[in-house]
Amino acid sequence: MNTDTSPPARLPADPLPRHLDLLHRRWTDALGHHHFDCAVIAAGQSRPYFLDDQAPPFRANPHFQQWFPSDACEGSLLLIRPGQRPRLFFLKPDDYWHQPPELPEWAHAHFEISEHADAADVEQAALASAAGAGRHCAWISEQPVANQHSGQLNPQGLLDELHYLRACKSDFEIGCMREATRSAVLGHEAARALFESGRLVSEFELNLAYLAGAATTAGELPYASIVALNQHAGVLHYQHYDRQPPATARSFLIDAGARCNGYASDITRTYAAHLPPAPEIFHDLLKAMNAAQLDLIATIRPGLSFLELHIDMHRRLATILTDSGILRCSATSAFESGLTESFFPHGLGHLIGLQTHDVGGQQKNPAGDRQPPPENYPSLRLTRTLTPGTVVTIEPGLYFIPKLLDALKAGPQRNAVNWPALESLRPCGGIRIEDNVLITEKGTDNLTRTAFQQVQAQQ
Ligand code: GLY
Ligand code: MN
Ligand code: MN
Repeated sequence: MNTDTSPPARLPADPLPRHLDLLHRRWTDALGHHHFDCAVIAAGQSRPYFLDDQAPPFRANPHFQQWFPSDACEGSLLLIRPGQRPRLFFLKPDDYWHQPPELPEWAHAHFEISEHADAADVEQAALASAAGAGRHCAWISEQPVANQHSGQLNPQGLLDELHYLRACKSDFEIGCMREATRSAVLGHEAARALFESGRLVSEFELNLAYLAGAATTAGELPYASIVALNQHAGVLHYQHYDRQPPATARSFLIDAGARCNGYASDITRTYAAHLPPAPEIFHDLLKAMNAAQLDLIATIRPGLSFLELHIDMHRRLATILTDSGILRCSATSAFESGLTESFFPHGLGHLIGLQTHDVGGQQKNPAGDRQPPPENYPSLRLTRTLTPGTVVTIEPGLYFIPKLLDALKAGPQRNAVNWPALESLRPCGGIRIEDNVLITEKGTDNLTRTAFQQVQAQQ
């Protein structure tokens, strides 16, 4: 049972009512389009591991969390009715094993609330109110709610519409994401300072430095941090925290975020070691990737297709690989032959918000039509046209991944590669630079770079 009872953290109060008004309008329209009288949203419950009585940290149904931006909601239900205040059925178990959640003070201003000590009472009260609201109820829940007698569980059409619209953030949501970014940047700066301290440190220590700097527990993170030294930086979702420092530290890639009121940040930085040095070419590539990421972001405007942006990054990467002498062909041919895909095998970015990889990235419209990525970029999670209010990650990478390099070496394009240069880079693993970027009417607001500037100015 999560015990976080803090109000939406360090945010101006005004955007929350406007955020809830916006949600009310969205849900009223979507329920109408799909012929529902009301919706019941279940916050959900953390489920124990198989054959165990231990469970992972609770993570709320994102639809619930968008209405109720706090983690103190396990087992609660929410009734949404067009034209009426949302009704919260709040579970506060009479429990001495765990600290029961406290209803946050701000909630009283926005919801009709009843508190219940028993989960069965929460369900009964919600069922009775839903029955009073009409016959057609949409239930948005991971599990069927007991005794759910009418209506539909997770109707796809309704979810498609809500998932599509979720990409466009309210001012409240953007405020939460700025705060999640600020916390993560404090963690990144602490980890960077430790890496650059001149002492050989382990991934385990770097991870602890991150958590302390961000003032977060591992259970509160939006995703498990990637803390990778040397060749581990070439494992895209590297999941270990080696206890022992490596004999030599050449490179450090850290992909770590934070949460605020349920909203995520997702940030990656890569560093090259000076003592003893990483190969000079790795330092040069790092600078070139940073410049390319910033130049790419400078081209973003509403109306741009994210697929075009992804392709643009592949073209820029082709230039970096040929200018640095890693590839011995023209940049045009490096791009057109697909050579860059061996060095950058993931997508340029994704939607972010209540979930790190937020839903709806491959949707064409609220009706749920799909827009899958082309065959050569199967990992691209976002294929939409960018619109103001959307927050995306921009995370180009350049990796030296043994499996992909070995395939290249055995394939028809092997002569286009300067293998001695590439072999010197393998121990550095790779580079990723990831920012969270808000699309505005005129271009972008880079939440991550702004936060780094603010935090560094205060150091
Ligand atoms: N941290 C996961 C990602 O960047 O998508
Ligand atoms: Mn990401
Ligand atoms: Mn990331």
